Amino acid sequence: MSRDVLLPGATLGVMGGGQLGRMFVHAAQSLGYGAAVLDPDASSPAGQVAQHQVRAGYLDAAGLAELAARCDAITTEFENVPAEALRRLAVLRPVAPAADAVAICQDRAAEKAQFVRCGVPCAPHAVIDSAGQLTTVPASLLPGILKTARMGYDGKGQRRVADAQALAAAWHELGGVPCVLEQMLPLALELSVIVARGADGTVVTLPVQQNLHREGILAVTEVPAPQADAALQAQARAAAGDVAAAMGYVGVLCVEFFVLADGRLVANEMAPRPHNSGHYSIDACDLSQFELQVRALAGLPLPQPRLHSPAVMLNLLGDLWFADGDETPRTPPWDRLLALPGVHLHLYGKAEARRGRKMGHLTITAADAAQARSVALQAAAVLGIAPF
Ligand SMILES: Nc1ncnc2c1ncn2[C@@H]1O[C@H](COP(=O)(O)OP(=O)(O)O)[C@@H](O)[C@H]1O
Ligand SMILES: [Mg+2]
Repeated sequence: MSRDVLLPGATLGVMGGGQLGRMFVHAAQSLGYGAAVLDPDASSPAGQVAQHQVRAGYLDAAGLAELAARCDAITTEFENVPAEALRRLAVLRPVAPAADAVAICQDRAAEKAQFVRCGVPCAPHAVIDSAGQLTTVPASLLPGILKTARMGYDGKGQRRVADAQALAAAWHELGGVPCVLEQMLPLALELSVIVARGADGTVVTLPVQQNLHREGILAVTEVPAPQADAALQAQARAAAGDVAAAMGYVGVLCVEFFVLADGRLVANEMAPRPHNSGHYSIDACDLSQFELQVRALAGLPLPQPRLHSPAVMLNLLGDLWFADGDETPRTPPWDRLLALPGVHLHLYGKAEARRGRKMGHLTITAADAAQARSVALQAAAVLGIAPF
């Protein structure tokens, strides 16, 4: 399909109705676009705020046709929307990112091959497609982490394995599906970079994020990254841009990196959409990752975003709704939280709180990084989030 500019007034569609879709819809609407969402859940976070929700499965032919009929261009918010669905939509409407790029990001083996092709270092690894390959794995990859090639997220679909015996057991436990075994690396810190690329090849990046994960789930993002020097940050931003350009990517892409104990930068994985670690950009940058997604999809210009305030982002998991040992959910003390300066509360409209479920996030902005961190620690204390 042609890549004409779609001006405000047009309608943008998104595959998936989660919180990322919701924030995309907010950004689209604030620029004057209409928004339509396809998601099977009648009360999805994005469906609640869009002008239209098509309630259908991602591969439902009638649902895809209806979404295309309602929209002028379509993007995705959920990396496990089947690439096939995007392929079918692309026959009818402009779709960005393209199905082929999404397919790479959906498969850890393809993703690693892409990093290698771009000359971006990644963890030493082996692909395991069959039981026979378990015995041919180089000993240097152990101890390692076995990850399902597809559908893993928030630490799910992963097992840490110490030796060959544990590897075989873990592979069977994960269902005997195609997996990637990665060498366990000595991590000093974790970074990520949001990159947006336009159809005309323009590439811009958000400032580098430093991320803390707890039990495989992102807990805290700090920007500017307190422990990454300028050279390392420049290297991460350049690598993210290179990966996007090499895929001919159009849209917003997040590349996650490890910084090893010896200072080396290693790419971990990527997401073909805005990312939890980029949420701070709504409140701390003059262009958010969601506005970048809207602009890239619509073919609008992509000026370089600027961080106007140092920020700390805290994820709000469903655990906060449950006092110790209590199974009846309570409402967290939002009033006490909102008494703190520079606090931006984002709740996703999910009806039911569950432990480990992302219910919302909080961005604390301040005049300097020390102040943002200090208020973020106070916010964490008010809500019962562990200090960082
Ligand atoms: N090769 C590795 N060495 C050390 N730690 C790792 C490695 N791979 C993953 N981890 C840790 O596990 C977390 C989740 O892994 P990741 O591949 O990002 O999966 P997910 O899709 O669940 O985010 C990472 O953020 C990092 O903390
Ligand atoms: Mg990850």
